[in-house]
This record gives sequence, structure tokens and C-alpha cells, in this order.
Amino acid sequence: MRVVVIGSGGREHAIVRAIASSPSRPMVWAAPGNPGIFQIAQPIPLTNPLDPSALAEFCHEHEIDLVVIGPEAPLAAGLADALRIEEIPVFGPSQAATRLESSKWYAKRFMQRYGIPTAQWASFTADEADDARQYVVSHPLPVVIKADGLAAGKGVVVAGTHEEALAALERMFSGGLGPAGQRVIIEDFLAGDEASVFAICDGTTYALLATAQDHKRIYDGDRGPNTGGMGAYAPSPLLTADLLTQIEHQIIEPTLQGMVTENAPFVGCLYVGLMLANGKPFVVEYNARFGDPETQSVLEVFRGDFARLLYSAARGRLDRTAINAIADGWSCTVVLASKGYPGSYTTGHRITGIEQAEQLARVYHAGTARDADGTLITAGGRVLNVTSHGASLAEAVERCYQAVRCIHFENMYYRTDIGARALRMLHLMEDRL
Ligand code: AMP
Ligand code: GLY
Repeated sequence: MRVVVIGSGGREHAIVRAIASSPSRPMVWAAPGNPGIFQIAQPIPLTNPLDPSALAEFCHEHEIDLVVIGPEAPLAAGLADALRIEEIPVFGPSQAATRLESSKWYAKRFMQRYGIPTAQWASFTADEADDARQYVVSHPLPVVIKADGLAAGKGVVVAGTHEEALAALERMFSGGLGPAGQRVIIEDFLAGDEASVFAICDGTTYALLATAQDHKRIYDGDRGPNTGGMGAYAPSPLLTADLLTQIEHQIIEPTLQGMVTENAPFVGCLYVGLMLANGKPFVVEYNARFGDPETQSVLEVFRGDFARLLYSAARGRLDRTAINAIADGWSCTVVLASKGYPGSYTTGHRITGIEQAEQLARVYHAGTARDADGTLITAGGRVLNVTSHGASLAEAVERCYQAVRCIHFENMYYRTDIGARALRMLHLMEDRL
């Protein structure tokens, strides 16, 4: 099999590794890629690999069997549609199906139409700013303000005061997030625990991968602003078999059927971000792609033929026999970031210790580059992802942090409590047994 992977983060590094190590040993090309990805995959020699016609031509020339699109932006721009017109199999939803992620307003109305559990909400455009302000000041606290469009993890504010909520409205309506903030969703706050579910979908049927939990806030103890994700573990002990069955019946199945009804069947990874409030699952967000960094953990416990799984979904005939196990053991991922992220930070710092860390865990590249001498340097907010495996969550977490401590770069920052809440919960459960 010959596969192209689009993207340049830790998620794509993990996807490229899982595809390349599938039993048929596919050849993998990647773009834009990163230094870690290019240890496994060949670069696609195009000036603009996201230009649909140039990419389609490359795929035809190199007899590519499958294109996997990692990030949301090219999906929202319609890259999957453009390749499908050229009869190239794509793992990734159409522009219309990507609306589940690219428009929170669409997703909310969709959930309302199909009776999918989610928080109560209202929506306002910038022209309705006065109504929005009135609505917010009479809303109980906390209140959640969300920009309708894609905002790279910066479009959601959980406001503890009315002033904070009004400031968030002001920032969005005045163009602080560009067109993404010209419409907002104002949502009831749901208290509970979060977990994520990933379904590999072929348009009508699906197969679940391991569940996971992301850690979105920048600081330990889930404090500070939201980020793209500072760490994850898999599977989530919160999602018992009973809860998962409920989630499948009440959320995943109606979502896939709903998308068929909307003439936008979903082919790709459906990521459902859930809040478990009073023991019941509610959709907090849909993503139309694999999560980053959850995928690094989810693939660490996956056993089977990942390339065949994605290929079969892309061809509209999901092959469940490609999965041997969705969660063999446990895994933990810690994101090594540049201090200052998700705000401003410096780059260009030399990275050392990766080889030592790799004795204990996998090290995925997220924001790295090579300087003129070929030295590996930092080049982004999220720089590296360290992913470990263990027979227990405790073992995975311990091994992950041992590996993390081998790596050094100036201004390196990471959370020290990835998985800590789940470990406390597992201890409590053991005590009760
Ligand atoms: P989203 O991008 O919609 O997933 O929101 C980012 C984060 O904001 C989520 O992971 C939650 O931690 C939080 N959040 C979003 N919506 C709600 C809600 N209705 N109630 C409580 N927390 C929320
Ligand atoms: N880690 C959250 C996301 O990928 O959206």
C-alpha cells in the first residue's frame, strides 16, 4: 500500500508511524511533515502540498492508494472532496461533513435535530451583540461562550463572572478571532468529568478506538487558559462498558445516521468530546479528525493493521478484522511545550536527550525543525510528545515522566500531573473492591 499523510504535528507523526508499521509495511509520503515524520516518511516535493490539484497529480503519478488528512483546516477547506473527485481514496470527511467541527452553530442545530444530548444553548451574531449581552448578564454562572468557527483551541471561554463573559463576547464580536467569532454560541456550563471517544467511520458504520482523556489547560490542576492539549492517557477509566454502550446508542449512531440524512456521510475519525454530568454523557464538541495529543496515546494501545483499517473506511467498507485490540494496556502522553505557550514564546533552542528518552518511550515531533547544521531545534508551542506504554496506568505515567526527564531544551515546560486524577480515581475504585 502507498499512503500520503497530510499534517505536521505529533498526531501525524503517530499516524505515520502506525501506518508504516502495519503488517503490509506501506510506503508513506507526508506533507508538510516535520523532522520526526521524515525519519519514517518521504517528503512530498511540492511547493504547496495543500493545493488540491497539485496533490491529486502527485497521488496519480505515485499510484497512491490512500490519503489521510490529519488537521481540521484542510478538511474544512474541502481537500477531501477535491481528491475524491479525482477518485483518490481519502480518510477524512468532506467539507460538508467537517461542519460538525468547523461550525459549532451547525453542530448544535444538528444535535437538536437528531436528539443528541448536549448543553442548552443560544446563538447570536455580531449584529445581535446587544441581545447577546443581555442574555449573558441574566445567565447563571459559570457560562460558556464559544466562537462558531475554527479557532485553534482558543474559541471557548468558560466565564466565572459576567464581566469575563462580556469581555469574551466583546473580543469575539470585535474580530479578535477573525470571522470565526462573528457568531457565538452561549452555552450552559456542565459540571463533570471529560473524556473523548474516537470512531473510525466509513460513512454508515463505525469502529471505536480506545477512549482517552485530554488535559486542555496549560497548568497543573487544570488551571490557566485552554491549549491544543498538554497531555493525554488512554483508555479512560471513566468510560465503563455500560456508559460506552449508552454513548454509542445515544450519540455515535444518531450522529452517523444524521449525517447520512443531511447528505454528508461522515468518512474519517469522528472525535466526540464528552462531559459526563451526573453519570450521563453530553457532547461538548465534535471534531472531524483525530485528536492531538490523544491519538499518540490511543495508537500506543491499538493492536492490528491500522493502514488496512483506514483504507477500508476510506473505501466505504469498514474492515473490523483489521483491529485485534483497541486497548492493549495503558498509555500516557506528555506534551513538552515552549514556555509561554499558548501565548508568545521563543523558538530556535537546541533539543537534547531524545535518544535516551527513546529507551523508555516514543518521542513524537510536534514543533521541531533542523537548523542549517542539521541540529534539532524548537520551532513551535508544542515541541515534542512523549508517549509511553504500561501494563497499568501508573506504570505508563511513571515511565513517561522518566523519559520526559531525559529531554532538555531552553524554556521547556510541561504539566507534571497528566493522568493524576485518573490514578486517584482508580485507587479509590480499588479501595472499594
Ligand atoms: P470545546 O472546544 O468546545 O471542546 O471546549 C473546550 C473546553 O471547554 C472543553 O474541553 C471543556 O473543558 C470546556 N467546555 C466546553 N463546553 C463546556 C460546557 N458546556 N460546560 C463545561 N465546560 C465546557
Ligand atoms: N486535543 C484536542 C484536540 O485535538 O482538539
